[in-house]
Amino acid sequence: MQALNTYLDTHKDRFLNELLDLLRIPSVSADSAFAKDVARTAEFVRDALVAAGADNVEICPTPGHPIVYGEKIVDEKLPTVLVYGHYDVQPPDPLDLWTSPPFEPVIKKTKLHPEGAIFARGACDDKGQMYMHIKAFEMMMKNDALHCNVKFMIEGEEEVGSDNLGPFIEANRERLAADVCLVSDTSIIANDVPSITTGLRGLSYVEVEVTGADRDLHSGVYGGAVANPINVLSKMIASMHDENNHITIPGFYDAVETVSDAERTEMNKAPFDLEYYKNDLKINDIRGEKGYTTLERTSIRPTLDVNGMWGGYIGEGAKTVLPSKAYAKISMRLVPNQKDEEITELFRKHFESIAPDSVTVKVTPHHGGLPAVTPTDSVEYKAAAKAMQEAFGKAPLPQRSGGSIPIVSLFENILNVKTVLMGFGLDSDNIHSPDEHYGVFNYYKGIETIPHFFKYYAEMK
Ligand code: BES
Ligand code: MN
Ligand code: MN
Repeated sequence: MQALNTYLDTHKDRFLNELLDLLRIPSVSADSAFAKDVARTAEFVRDALVAAGADNVEICPTPGHPIVYGEKIVDEKLPTVLVYGHYDVQPPDPLDLWTSPPFEPVIKKTKLHPEGAIFARGACDDKGQMYMHIKAFEMMMKNDALHCNVKFMIEGEEEVGSDNLGPFIEANRERLAADVCLVSDTSIIANDVPSITTGLRGLSYVEVEVTGADRDLHSGVYGGAVANPINVLSKMIASMHDENNHITIPGFYDAVETVSDAERTEMNKAPFDLEYYKNDLKINDIRGEKGYTTLERTSIRPTLDVNGMWGGYIGEGAKTVLPSKAYAKISMRLVPNQKDEEITELFRKHFESIAPDSVTVKVTPHHGGLPAVTPTDSVEYKAAAKAMQEAFGKAPLPQRSGGSIPIVSLFENILNVKTVLMGFGLDSDNIHSPDEHYGVFNYYKGIETIPHFFKYYAEMK
């Protein structure tokens, strides 16, 4: 693999500059004002795949944002790796909390990234991590070192729920046939503690609307006699956790898989410094479900959180008003074997049942997804572990993550392929948040690791 390391060294600066160009395009999938930029980003990815040496590269339209496909079939008899990633990003707001503009990438040093990190929306999630695969592919192509077939499927709607990916996969089963799916869209524990993600949480996401009177009222004339939907909603939300921070929706935990004591003990051996955690987040204390550690609360236990809440007067100064409506967006992170559709239904029933007669309520489901767990005794896990061992000089730890990538279960159910979650970000890289960044070390380390995975996977398969 010396040739590859030399190639990486020679082309380092170009690899970085190309990523910076990709990060300059604001591919915000949630906001239709950016639709042209999203389309331009798909073209960028297409051109990068062509330049790296992929065949049959195509921008596949969907009813939403397009999916970019490309492949290199070296030999039909060799195993095939399907690389999945996403080129869309989260909206950058609140803009004023960024220390540099989100679509003008700059490299700045941080405590955890002394070699520098690229600050931009999408740097880590997922443009930086996705682009590592295109560069690793280029290295393998240019050095005659690709010993697997590879297919790329890079989508533009991950951050809005991948609605069009399922139908695309259904319609392209043959074209997407593969032995394994490889995804870099998760994190490692630390730059000197490599890890492989072995689980993701599922997601049920709902929006609720609470209506009191049919119009806004004077809060003096009517206040005290007519229900205030914001007060009511706050109380309803507060009642959904008990004093132990258990979720109170009847049946919510019924399907939750009990993790064995042995597994929990193992899980809690992962390095975790509570003082550092609190200090980093500038919190005096943590809060969570009684009986579980922080690592468990963010991986093997389900959650319910308000993501946003609004209603009434939020302009400058004071307006005395008894609002007609209150809203909230609520997400529930799910663990095996909870099913998002069932949980959404339990939520709806419960929410309707606790609403007082003084208001009417409406629950609208948004996107959801199933949780996923991946085995550690599979060929693909072992190949990934060996690849990381070689690149980091240390064996990776398996770790379940709290985030969600709902398409992982689709790959398994529709294509019958298992996924390896070999991500290189850090949890502290501020994904979805102002000042998102991705370590330059992590970018190069990923590019170095990926060809090792291909090599070991081909050998071991
Ligand atoms: N890459 C993340 C998921 C992730 C982040 C997994 C960190 C593990 C560690 C992905 O882009 C994402 O943000 N997913 C969404 C769900 C999606 C349906 C919008 C999430 O987890 O909120
Ligand atoms: Mn992502
Ligand atoms: Mn994301």
